[in-house]
Amino acid sequence: MKVLVVGSGGREHALCWTIAASPLVDKLYCAPGNAGIADVAECVAVASDDVDALVDFSRENQIEFVVVGPEAPLVGGLVDRLEAIGIKAFGPSAEAAMLEGSKGFMKDLCAKYNIPTAFYGRFTSPDAAREFVHENGAPIVVKADGLAAGKGVIIAETIAEAEAAIDDMLSGNRFGDAGAEIVIEEFLNGEEASFFVLVDGEHALPLASAQDHKRVGDGDTGPNTGGMGAYSPAPVVTEDMVETVMTEIIYPTIRGMAADGHPYKGVLYAGLMIENGVPRLLEYNVRFGDPECQVLMARLKSDLLPALIASRDGVLDNFDLRWYDEVALVVVMAANGYPGDYEKGSEIRGLDAAGAIPDVTVFHAGTREDDGRILATGGRVLGVTALGATVADAQKTAYQAVDAIDWPDGFCRRDIGWRAI
Ligand code: AMP
Ligand code: GLY
Repeated sequence: MKVLVVGSGGREHALCWTIAASPLVDKLYCAPGNAGIADVAECVAVASDDVDALVDFSRENQIEFVVVGPEAPLVGGLVDRLEAIGIKAFGPSAEAAMLEGSKGFMKDLCAKYNIPTAFYGRFTSPDAAREFVHENGAPIVVKADGLAAGKGVIIAETIAEAEAAIDDMLSGNRFGDAGAEIVIEEFLNGEEASFFVLVDGEHALPLASAQDHKRVGDGDTGPNTGGMGAYSPAPVVTEDMVETVMTEIIYPTIRGMAADGHPYKGVLYAGLMIENGVPRLLEYNVRFGDPECQVLMARLKSDLLPALIASRDGVLDNFDLRWYDEVALVVVMAANGYPGDYEKGSEIRGLDAAGAIPDVTVFHAGTREDDGRILATGGRVLGVTALGATVADAQKTAYQAVDAIDWPDGFCRRDIGWRAI
């Protein structure tokens, strides 16, 4: 098959690394890719949110299967457009992608189908939003309805902070159209975990759990980021917990989406808050997590591609995937300054030495090659991934690899995996 992966981050490097190993693949492209992806796929200069250009490229190059990494092209209808011209694609339709594309849509689905989640309200008027905050008190959570690149959630510790977030979002200053409507919801306590399933419209195949580290600093301090590291599996997601999540959250969602006329296909990423053994849904994403995908792919023993095709074809029932028993852990290396302003173009050395350490894979998230040198081009730049018998073992190996990388312009957290250690 000729396969195209869409995206340029660490998630897409992990997907390409896995898919390139499939005996089903004759030719693998990635749009636009990065310097690490170029080792396993042919990178093509098409932006991941340019739906028209991606459709044109797929048609002109007789692509037979497209795997979409990020949410923006999914919400933008890339899968619908490809399927309309007979090209199979992995991921939800634009309507089904609203599970991530509109927080209000996701919350209404939960309310309609009794899926456990935080109590909420939807607002376009600041007065009604303020009234809701006064009735419910702080802490309280204010969210932009639309896509905001992971930045659209404000945890307000006081009523004044909530009011400032409301004004900021509804005035259109902060997130533009994405903030023209907001969701305000109950603050949930507990331990967070991510849970991933493949869905084919009707059936679900549980993949694995992971735990992300969203804050930039050690000890979960400092501003939120896209994710500074992750490990899989997450000990809090026991086998019993998987049962509960499938029965109370995942299957009601799949049945509800189908009943409402937009059956869900693709990977469904449930952000969970677990308190005293009770899981509640924080949010859905309609794609793999980044960097969670890196640890999932490191643990996957089976060929991923047939499972992605089965998701698209609606034949996931009785499908099985095998996983290594080991723990995988990824440490993200980011450019100094991230998630604020940072410089681009600094050189990274020592990647070969790091990658040569047994059980280590270095995924690239934001790099380009220039005359044999690897240069940083993004905020999150590398995902140094290791397998180990325990979280502590995987952590030790991952940091050994981090220390082999010579990049004075970058930094990482030193405590990835602390909750499990
Ligand atoms: P998001 O950007 O949508 O991934 O949300 C960012 C983070 O905000 C989540 O990972 C949680 O840590 C936190 N969060 C979102 N909703 C709530 C909530 N209702 N209660 C507590 N924390 C929340
Ligand atoms: N790591 C969080 C996300 O992918 O949304």
